Amino acid sequence: MANIERLEQLVKDLYCKKNPNRDEWADWLYKKHVLVVANNAEQLAKRFNVSIEQSRAAALLHDIADAVMAREKPNHEEISIKIAKELLGEAYFEEDAIRVIVDDALPFHGCHDGVKPKTLVGKILSTADALAHLNTDFYEFAVANSQDRSDDWVKQWVTKKLPRDFYDKIAFDEVREETKERYEELLAKYT
Ligand SMILES: [Fe+2]
Ligand SMILES: [Fe+2]
Repeated sequence: MANIERLEQLVKDLYCKKNPNRDEWADWLYKKHVLVVANNAEQLAKRFNVSIEQSRAAALLHDIADAVMAREKPNHEEISIKIAKELLGEAYFEEDAIRVIVDDALPFHGCHDGVKPKTLVGKILSTADALAHLNTDFYEFAVANSQDRSDDWVKQWVTKKLPRDFYDKIAFDEVREETKERYEELLAKYT
């Protein structure tokens, strides 16, 4: 079995264990987000000549702690990195590949405070993640599932996240151009 197939199985197994501490939407996230990001990453890797295996692996492992804990927990990112390292090792990924994924792609995929990934694999991941947010019903789903939040809170959340997805996380100008219409549609709908 190839390394990436082994990793795919390990990630699937972890989500399927249904850890009681995880958020309710973890099942939705795995099927409708993680696998979408992995597909996007593969397409982008082919298009921009980047390692498909590393790009898919980074996508499968981004925010992997969602499988075992709630997103809001302060150590969510730290645990994500820890699990990612373990699973990459178990799937026999090379040290160099592990370093790119664990030291750059995973920690910087969110492009928070304008800090962006430096490696191509990292750029593929942040772009693939943003496209998964923009081109699926991610925003619709998140807003519909925030009943306990005020309209103002939702508006603020989208106003912060949406431009970050579009301007910071999409690392390729031509991809940003292709996504512009959908971005403007979502922006008009929620802000
Ligand atoms: Fe994330
Ligand atoms: Fe994501």
